This record gives sequence, structure tokens and C-alpha cells, in this order.
Amino acid sequence: MKVETGPIRFDETTGIFQIDTANSSYQMKVNEYKDLIHTYYGKKIDMDDLYGDLCMLDRGFSGNPHDVGKYDRTYSLDILPQEYSCFGTGDYRITGLHVREVNGARVAGLKYEGYEIHEGLMGIPGLPAVYDGEDIKTSGSATAAVHEGQRQAAGRDAATGGHCTLSIFLRDPVNNLSVELRYGVLEELDIITRNVVIGNEGAETVYLEKAASMNLDLPYAGDYDFVTFYGRHAMERNLSRREIHHGVQSVGSVRGTSSHQYNPFSMLCERGATETTGACYGFSFVYSGEFLMEVEKDQADQVRFLCGIHPDDFTWVLQPKEAFATPQVIMSYSDYGFSKLSRNFHHVIAEHIVRGDWKHKMRPVLINNWEATFFDFTGEKLIGIAKEARELGVDMFVMDDGWFGARDSDNAGLGDWFANEKKLGCSLKELGERIEALGMQFGLWVEPEMVNEDSDLYRAHPEWALTAPGRQPQLGRNQIVLDMSREDVCDYILSRLTDILSSAPISYVKWDMNRSIADKYSHAADSARQGEVAHRYVLGVYRILESIHQRFPHVLFEGCSGGGGRFDAGMLYYTPQIWCSDNTDAIGRTSIQYGTSFCYPVSTMGAHVSVVPNQQTGRTSPLSTRATVAMAGTFGYELDITKMTDGEKEAVKSEIRFFKKHYALMHEGDYYRLSIHENAGSRVAGCDELFTAWEMAAADGSEALVSVVYHGVEANSAPVHLRVAGLDPSKKYLVQYVGDTGASVEAKYQGHVYSGRTLANAGFTIAPAKEEFGSWQIYISEV
Ligand code: DGJ
Repeated sequence: MKVETGPIRFDETTGIFQIDTANSSYQMKVNEYKDLIHTYYGKKIDMDDLYGDLCMLDRGFSGNPHDVGKYDRTYSLDILPQEYSCFGTGDYRITGLHVREVNGARVAGLKYEGYEIHEGLMGIPGLPAVYDGEDIKTSGSATAAVHEGQRQAAGRDAATGGHCTLSIFLRDPVNNLSVELRYGVLEELDIITRNVVIGNEGAETVYLEKAASMNLDLPYAGDYDFVTFYGRHAMERNLSRREIHHGVQSVGSVRGTSSHQYNPFSMLCERGATETTGACYGFSFVYSGEFLMEVEKDQADQVRFLCGIHPDDFTWVLQPKEAFATPQVIMSYSDYGFSKLSRNFHHVIAEHIVRGDWKHKMRPVLINNWEATFFDFTGEKLIGIAKEARELGVDMFVMDDGWFGARDSDNAGLGDWFANEKKLGCSLKELGERIEALGMQFGLWVEPEMVNEDSDLYRAHPEWALTAPGRQPQLGRNQIVLDMSREDVCDYILSRLTDILSSAPISYVKWDMNRSIADKYSHAADSARQGEVAHRYVLGVYRILESIHQRFPHVLFEGCSGGGGRFDAGMLYYTPQIWCSDNTDAIGRTSIQYGTSFCYPVSTMGAHVSVVPNQQTGRTSPLSTRATVAMAGTFGYELDITKMTDGEKEAVKSEIRFFKKHYALMHEGDYYRLSIHENAGSRVAGCDELFTAWEMAAADGSEALVSVVYHGVEANSAPVHLRVAGLDPSKKYLVQYVGDTGASVEAKYQGHVYSGRTLANAGFTIAPAKEEFGSWQIYISEV
């Protein structure tokens, strides 16, 4: 019998499950031994049985399961592509599930039991996840529910949007561990989400030592590359593309957060894949803590990819009747290169991760005082900046670090969340009202997960910090980390934040987190549970964010961790935008935003125009270039606007006018990268491209904005020639340089009319740079 629910099909005769999205097919099969074998993921196929195509050989030293091996030495879990691999059962590759029983045994083996297909997508209590409707419930615990209850508590969406979820149930018949593999399908976006719920249905405690959220085996994968995004503070998400070789390659974080160093997004792609051609797979981990993405090319040239919580810092005690839900991975396939793959991720994140009032609402153009004043400000000084900014068209003033406790430097005061009224010259409420009286909204910086040793909070509650017994804690920016795995700590922070947000007219919160976590020891947990602290920390942060999101739905949250140290799909579920990097140098930002764009949409990338010479790099770039780059993000200013010349102020006015006029195109249009930056963050490779170019195109093809930033100037330079994507081939378009007339850009570049077909296939030549680090915005509109 064949069962079909939307894009999910099951053939009971052959044991084949197939998920079809608009352009991809995913296939697995329950074989005669009740093993769940992965048979295909890629370009669309018919529901033919591909199991027989797997190359079965008697491979020496690849053992055979007992029930099979007596008759068939070609059957080995060491070679077969599987949906969810286990350690200890003769699969010697990297494996997804590692358990330890009370008797010390570390063997697990899963057999197929059954399946369910649900309408809609399933939430994960306590964790962020791709959703259908706005009313998804994430409250509840990701950890305590009994397995059966877990399925019910999962919270299904009222509005399914035609999406559905396949649950496949596996069981270890010896220790009675049940494993539910979940596949959420967003057919039109070519998206499949993955996560796993592990239930202890036996009588004894089981310790989970590794619980990957997904396993993808690519049989006969051919030559593939592993594309990852590495970096450091102020130089995040540089693209690295490396051949997948025999052995294991991985990226991950054991820093407590997803990290500046490796982003929890990666791709596998065909060796020759480009922006517009070739097969590629993308994986975005919807999680803000420690993660591991691993890939192994095995002895038979097959590729296995695993993604999940990093096992180094993880042991979960699973008591009988308890269940553990792993975080989710968003997975997509594109047969048309990276560009299409990125747009699949942009759409799923913008529409099904980002929530709340700010999802489609125009984000305010804001001014933040950090780079203008650092800690050295008074309420009057801030009002002065805000007043000037308002006259130029800025919508919101954000007061950054330094407004509370004894916070006149970054050595003291963190944790003491009470306004320093002496410094401000008034209460927070009065300051907010004065800003609002200017016709602006008021925003505030907080760093709730941290404490300085020199703070009243730490003096009162040293046990609230993560510190290892008998040792001095590691410092980072002279601060230590509050133990967010503790309920009492989270409750305290929640009540402080609630009080602050209720006390003043606050429309925006920048939630910062300024160090990696080292001493992951909770004074509230017993020794067996210390391996849960890193994950429970993340759950604690999510609980606070969720409560605040529910309580203050109109407040816009911007995530931040020293810039982009926690730039991931998990945080975007709570904070619709994230400060992309502490590097505000426009040229540095071109490669940071380039790398970020592979997974995350423009509307999520916090980006500001700052002063020159730039405070991080000393580089001087034109104001127009700084604005062009910041407009490929949420757009705002972070400088002392009172010090600008009249000419600069006029330019700021027209930048803001232009941004607001074309907001929908810039924030919701389709994004195309028109240039390449590989290993831009590496001192060895450097950024050897002459320019960075990108494009936003309206989904209906009516208009596009091409931005080009030159990294330098050359005498007698070779022309830069670009092809424009996303236009209607049959329509005519006017090509105009923004803010320029024939007077400042040679007439030969200005005001031409071409067809969409010509612009797509022949392209057009960009005017050369007029000055060092010059840039162009080119607006293309249907005539
Ligand atoms: C790090 C952030 O990324 C900066 O923008 C600023 O908010 C500082 N923290 C304040 O301490």
C-alpha cells in the first residue's frame, strides 16, 4: 500500500519513504533487517527503489550484524548509508548516537518500528525551530517530557501552510531507547528540517554522550567540497572551501556559544559548483550553543555529514520515562549552485524563523552611541546626538553600554541592572521620554548573561557564576559568566529585565554577550549533571528570551556577542536582527557580510555607518561607501553626528531618504552575490578581489539595486563587468547611478535602457572607482 501526504510518501511494499520538495528528493528505505538505510538526496527523482544500487561487497574488517552475517558477509553497517548512525555496532565512521548504560556498555543499535505523518511543522519545547504560524508554543521543557508526552507536548501549529512532518520511530531493543527522527518539510522552499527525540523507555538510566541532530550519508558522492565559515572577533564568517578528503574534517564550538570562530552553517558542494551551477547542500543549526559539524569520506569514498551539539562538553542523564529533544537543523539542496541555496535559507529564516511584530515591519534607522562616546557620556550629551540625528531622519536612539551601576569602564558594574541616574542626570524613564519627545524611539543595551567580580550582584551571589571549585575563573574582558543553567539565576535576570522594560518607554533592546565560556561548572548541579550545564545554559537563555518576547512583543531585539559571536538561526528566532560584527570598517564588512549572506538574509544583519578613520582598522573610506555597505544590513549610524560637516549631514539625509524609499527592495528582495571572496579573513590569502558586488532584485522582477564597492584604485584599470540577475527578460529597464548625474559619473555609464535579457546575458560595465574605496549603487527599474 502507498501512503501519500503532501510531499511525503511511503510505500509499505518496498519500505521506501520519499520526501519531494519543489526541486529535490530525499529517499530512505526500511530493509529486511529493519535498518533504516539512506538511499538518496539530490535533484528530483521518481520513487524508484535505489537500495539495490548500493554496492554490497564482502569488505574485510567491516563486520556484519549477527542476524545477517552468517549468511551474508556483504552486509555491513560500516559501509551502508544510514539515516541515523550509532557508535558501537560495527560502524567505525563518525557516528551520531553515543550512549552509556549504567553497566558501562557503550553499544547502541536502532531498528525501525513505525512512522507517523503530521500536518504542519512540530515545535521543540524550549528550543527555537522553524514554524508555520505565529502561534507556535515553545514554552515547556525540551528535556523532561516522557517520550509519548513529548510527541504531544511538541506543539503543532494551527496554520500549517501546507507543510508537514514525517516522524520515523526507531528503537534499541536491548536498552529500550526510542529514537524519533523528525523531518519537517517546506516543499516550496526546498527545505527539510531535522531533529531527533530520544526517549528512555527502559528501566535504567542511560547517559547520552553524543546525540547528533542529523546524519546525512551521501552514497557515491563523487568529489565534494566542505564549505565552512571561520573567523575571529571583528572578522567573522570568512568562507573556506576545502576538498573533502579521506578522514574527518570538522568545525564546531566549545565556547558556550556558536562563536565568531566557526559559524553553525556549512555546505557540501560538488567540486565544480559555483554561484549558479552545481549541486550543493546547506545545513543551518538552529542553536546558539556548542556545536559540531563533521564530515568524513570513508573507505568506499562515501561522505557522511553529522551535525549536533558538540559532544566534548555533553553528557545527558536520561532517566527512565524521560526524553531528550535535540536542536533542529535546517537542510536544503540546490542544483543551481550557492545563490539559489542561499535564497532558500534567506526565505526560511525570514519567514519561518524570525517572528513577531518586526518580521515584516520596517526596521528603524537607528543611531547607537557606542563608537561615538564609549563609556564617556551624560544624558545631555546623548540628547545632543539624538536631536541632531532626528533632524537628519534617524528614527531611533540606542543607548549602549555604560548606563547602569558603576559602569564607567568595562571592568565593573555588569550585573547591576539599575540605571546610573547621576551619570544620566535623570531616570531611565525621563531619558526615554526626552528621546520620544524628539519624535524618536528609545533603545537600550544590556548584557544579562554576565557579571563583573566588581559588582554588587557578584558580591551578593558568587555562586551564581560559572566557576570551577578550587580554581580562579578564566576572565574574558574582565568579566565572568552567570550560570544560566540555574533556574534562580534566570528568574532573577528575567525579573530585572522585565522591570527595566516596564519602567521606561523602551522600543528596542540590544542583547550583548561578550566572552566565551570557560569554567562550565554549575554550583547548583550534582557531579553527574555537570555534562548538562553547557546545553542547559542555552536553554536558560532561550527561556528568558522567549518570556520577554511574549511579554514585550513590540520591542525589537538585536542579538550581539561582541558583534557576530552568536550569529545563528537559533538567536534569530528571538532577535530578528543581530549585530554582524564589531568591525565597522566598510571594506572589512564587505567580506563579513559576504560570508554571512550564504545563510542569513540582509534583514538580519546589523550594520552601521561609523566614523573615519575607522576605529578598528584606521582605514578611511568615503561616507557613501560606508552607507552602501550598511544598507546591505539593517542600516543605522554609530558615530557622533554632531561632529559631521554640513555637507556630510546633507549626505546622511539623502542616504536615509533613499534607504527608506527602497526599503522593501533592500530588505525583502532576492539577494545575489555578484563577486567572490574566498578566505578573505586570512592574512596569507588576503582579499585579492578588486571589488565586492551584490544585488537585491524584487521578486516580481520590476526593479533591482546593484551595489559595487571597490577595494582599491588602479591606474588604467580593467573594466568591471556585471550580469544582473532576477529581472524579467522580456522587459526594458533603465539603469541609473544613485545620487549621481551625468556630471559626476560619465554620461556613457548613466541612464541607459536595456532589456532584462541583455542585462542578464551581456550585463553592463560599471563605472570605475572615482576614489580609493569608492562605491556605486545602481538602481535598475522597469520602464
Ligand atoms: C560589544 C558590542 O559588539 C559593541 O557594539 C558594544 O555594544 C560593546 N560590546 C559594549 O560593551
